[in-house]
Amino acid sequence: MAHRIAVLPGDGTGPEVVREGLKVLEATGVKLDLTEFDLGGERYKKTGDILPDSVLEELRGFDAIYLGAIGHPDVPPGILEKGLLLRLRFELDQYINLRPVKLYPGVDCPLKDKRPADIDFVVVRENTEGLYSGMGGFQYKGTPHETSTQVHMTTRFGAERAIRYAFDLTRKRNDIRQLHLVAKTNVLTFVHDTWWRAFNEIGEVDYPDIKREYAHVDATTMWFVKNPEWFDVIVVENMFGDIITDLGAMIQGGMGIAAGGNINPQGVSMFEPIGGSAPKYTGQNVICPLAAIEAGKMMLAHLGEEHAAARIEAAVVKALESGKIRSLSAGKMGMATSEVGDLVASLV
Ligand code: IPM
Ligand code: MN
Repeated sequence: MAHRIAVLPGDGTGPEVVREGLKVLEATGVKLDLTEFDLGGERYKKTGDILPDSVLEELRGFDAIYLGAIGHPDVPPGILEKGLLLRLRFELDQYINLRPVKLYPGVDCPLKDKRPADIDFVVVRENTEGLYSGMGGFQYKGTPHETSTQVHMTTRFGAERAIRYAFDLTRKRNDIRQLHLVAKTNVLTFVHDTWWRAFNEIGEVDYPDIKREYAHVDATTMWFVKNPEWFDVIVVENMFGDIITDLGAMIQGGMGIAAGGNINPQGVSMFEPIGGSAPKYTGQNVICPLAAIEAGKMMLAHLGEEHAAARIEAAVVKALESGKIRSLSAGKMGMATSEVGDLVASLV
């Protein structure tokens, strides 16, 4: 049976990279039944629709969602992000944002002396709580007494399910069996105390075979640069996870290759390149599609098509090792977006 995929190309360069991702997915021979949705900035500007309830209900019926990018230069910040991307994550309860950080051979790493063997870890970012809860507001807005709050909401339930997911992943990923909790327990003494106790209690009782490590988030940014080889799996709350995975993307070669999955293990998951819509490169056929291709790979693995996923990864590595792609930065690849897609598809 074909996997039913909702395709949301979205804004900016989203459609260009999604096209290449689909090309590579098709080359695997895995049967996909694709339905495209035109959600994003253009539709919002035309009709005022962001995510109609009827579309949301339809999306619940798919096996997975393949997303390009959300974000439009003519739409004020927050509207599409909150109304579309975050709403999808929350409504579909995609409580894990899974972001692998892996340096492939043939990719330029900005860190001196670091090799592919040194940079290969996975960040498990909690994806529905923390500062993203949307709780808070203004008091006396526009006056000298203006007050604003943004609540860092943490539930034991939310922390626990992310932590359990991360422990399970650590167990099956390799023989290293080491999980880092990244937080800021010395300052966020309430919300991160919940995380700290959940991490240790769950680890002690249910995962005695996994070594538990802890790093403050500020120190983590330092270790990502200095000793990325220390990490195997990281579990982290939402906002800190957002921040450290941009740094992670840079040490694996940049937004041109960084992909992620918004996972609901019991529901509909959504896969995306983690970079934005890159409006200034829209329509120029110069943006690197490897991140979208990698997102497609993660989607196949999630759908149980591990073999096809491994073939995509092997093809990406071969394409990179061929030396044909000069850089993963937009406009510097020495190849067009579509040519990179062709190259990878030909190697699958
Ligand atoms: C990401 C993005 C989003 C986030 C934005 C666009 C809302 O930065 O996927 O990392 O903060 O999660
Ligand atoms: Mn981000």
